Amino acid sequence: MSKPTSSAIIFGVGPRQGVGAELCVQASARGLHVFVNGRTQEKIDAIVETIEAAGGSATALLADVTQPKQVEAALAIVEADARPLELAIYNAGNNRPEAFLDVTPEVFEDMWRVICFGGFVTAQAMLRLMLKQQDAAPKQSLLFTGASGSLRGKAGFSAFAAGKSALRMMVQSIAREYGKQGIHVGHVVIDGMIEGEKVRSQFAEYLDAKGAEGGLNISAIAQAYFAMHDQHKTAWTQELDIRPYKEDF
Ligand SMILES: NC(=O)c1ccc[n+]([C@@H]2O[C@H](COP(=O)([O-])OP(=O)(O)OC[C@H]3O[C@@H](n4cnc5c(N)ncnc54)[C@H](OP(=O)(O)O)[C@@H]3O)[C@@H](O)[C@H]2O)c1
Repeated sequence: MSKPTSSAIIFGVGPRQGVGAELCVQASARGLHVFVNGRTQEKIDAIVETIEAAGGSATALLADVTQPKQVEAALAIVEADARPLELAIYNAGNNRPEAFLDVTPEVFEDMWRVICFGGFVTAQAMLRLMLKQQDAAPKQSLLFTGASGSLRGKAGFSAFAAGKSALRMMVQSIAREYGKQGIHVGHVVIDGMIEGEKVRSQFAEYLDAKGAEGGLNISAIAQAYFAMHDQHKTAWTQELDIRPYKEDF
C-alpha cells in the first residue's frame, strides 16, 4: 500500500463488526490514514491493529464525543499530523428501546448527549480544521450516521428519535452553510437493523425473525458513505437512505 497523503477521522468506533470499524477499514483500503475514535481503548486499538496488519496506517484517538475538551485534544493530534483531513464521519450512537413512561430524565439526556450533542461538538472541531486545510485537502466530506429515528418516532424509541431527528436538522443547517465553501456535508439514514455485533449481542431474535438478508450488511453500509464522498462537486447528495430490500418502510 502506498503512503497515505490525506486522512479520515471516524468518531464512534466500537467492535470490528460495526459500522464505525468498517468505515475505518474501508477508508484505509482506499489509501487514507485513519484516525480511529472511540471511548474504549481496547476496541480502537484492535481496529488500528487490523488496519496495520493489512498494510494501512491508523492512529487510535480515545475521546468521549460528549466531552468538548477531549474532542479538542483529539483534533489537536489530527492537526499535528502533516496529512490534511479529507473525510470526517460522526457515527457515535446508542439505543435503548423502552416504553415512553419508563424513560428516565437521565436516559433521555444521555441519549441526546451521545447522538446529538456529540455530533455538534465533533462537527465544530472537524469543520474548524477542515476550513484551515482547504488548500491542502484534495476534497472534503463531513458525513453523519442517521437511523429510522431520524425520520420518524416509532413506539419505544422516543429518546432515540428525539436525538437522531435533531442531529439530522443540525446537519441540514451545516450543509447549507458550508456546502458553498466546498465541504460536502451529508447524512446517511440507516433504515433498518444492522447485521453487526451491537444488534447480534442484544437483539438477535429480532434479526433472526427477519430471515436471511433482513439486516443491513456493514460493508454495504460503508460503501454508501464512500459513494457520497466520491461524488463530483456539481452533483452532491445531501442525504441518502438505505435499507434491506425486505424492510417495510
Ligand atoms: N445497530 C443498528 O441496528 C442501527 C440501525 C440504524 C442506525 N444505527 C446507527 O448506526 C451507528 C453505528 O451503529 P452500530 O450499531 O454499527 O455501532 P458501531 O458503529 O459498532 O459502534 C458505535 C460506537 O460508538 C461508540 N460510542 C458510543 N458513545 C460514545 C461516546 N460518547 N464517545 C465516543 N464513542 C462512543 C461506542 O463505543 P463502545 O462500544 O466502546 O461503547 C460504539 O461501539 C450509530 O450511530 C447508530 O445509531 C444503528
